Amino acid sequence: MDDNLLITNLFSIKDKTALITGGATGIGKMIAKAFVKNGVKVYIASRNKKNLEETAEELTKMGPGVCYSIEANLTSKGACEKLAADFQKLGNEKLDILVNNAGAIGFNAPLTDFPEKKWDNIYNLHVKSVFYLTIACLPLLEKASNKPIDPSRVIITGSILGIGDGQPKFTQVIGSCSLPYNSSKHAVHSVAKNLAVHLTPRGVNVNIIAPGVVPVRAFLNNMNDIILSEIPQGRTGNEMDIAGAVIYLSSRASSWVAGTEIVVDGGTLLNFKLSDEYIKNF
Ligand SMILES: NC(=O)c1ccc[n+]([C@@H]2O[C@H](COP(=O)([O-])OP(=O)(O)OC[C@H]3O[C@@H](n4cnc5c(N)ncnc54)[C@H](OP(=O)(O)O)[C@@H]3O)[C@@H](O)[C@H]2O)c1
Repeated sequence: MDDNLLITNLFSIKDKTALITGGATGIGKMIAKAFVKNGVKVYIASRNKKNLEETAEELTKMGPGVCYSIEANLTSKGACEKLAADFQKLGNEKLDILVNNAGAIGFNAPLTDFPEKKWDNIYNLHVKSVFYLTIACLPLLEKASNKPIDPSRVIITGSILGIGDGQPKFTQVIGSCSLPYNSSKHAVHSVAKNLAVHLTPRGVNVNIIAPGVVPVRAFLNNMNDIILSEIPQGRTGNEMDIAGAVIYLSSRASSWVAGTEIVVDGGTLLNFKLSDEYIKNF
């Protein structure tokens, strides 16, 4: 019985099967890598075939888990249903972990001239597809569930911008409006919590990771100083920070955790930030 408390059991995700949207790049790839490193059979799904194939090959070489890819453009209900069907056609009758992670950068247009097409794209990807993909995968998640001891899991990559309001400074200096992105992330946090209401009794736990800035592309590196000025811990996030949260949310350790947000942001959301002078002097 006491062996259950060993980290190797409590946090084990070995031999589970996971589907990760947007898993070929950025935070999704960090999640895929953490899973493969810990013995999970991973499917990554997005639009760019080349990225998908390269990541799947790189991670499978790493092992001990494996990584496969499925092409999907997740902006409609039909596309979500097709992804669930494609996943099943590959011989999978159940799904232990669904990670709704795909996202679009939402702050490269000004407030008074924000293209409607971009608004629709952000909302379709961040809000609509998370709901429809989760519903499309529900029969597979229910089959995998060992409820109430070890339910299957849905993890949604939200954002600290889905909790707080306003804009990070690095989006302000480029004169860009993050309102559509922020509001879509607020919406998906609500979708996640409401899905948790419906799915927890069915043996599927739904939770959110809300990252702060995790540099995934070069333009963020160019703005390191301004980004760090808003992070009390003094550094941006990395793959270990993301892995820690998703492994917890995927393992027995979080079986009794549903409908929550895990904020992974080095303290960015803390609104009682101290001034540099105070930190130096006291
Ligand atoms: N990086 C951060 O600082 C940060 C902070 C908080 C939250 N987030 C969230 O983290 C998630 C991942 O973003 P990221 O920062 O890692 O950026 P990223 O590398 O650009 O990842 C976005 C992923 O979404 C996929 N995607 C985009 N449109 C898609 C579509 N229509 N259908 C299917 N897949 C699509 C992309 O793949 P394809 O191009 O191949 O489709 C890509 O792999 C997003 O939800 C984002 O909002 C990021």
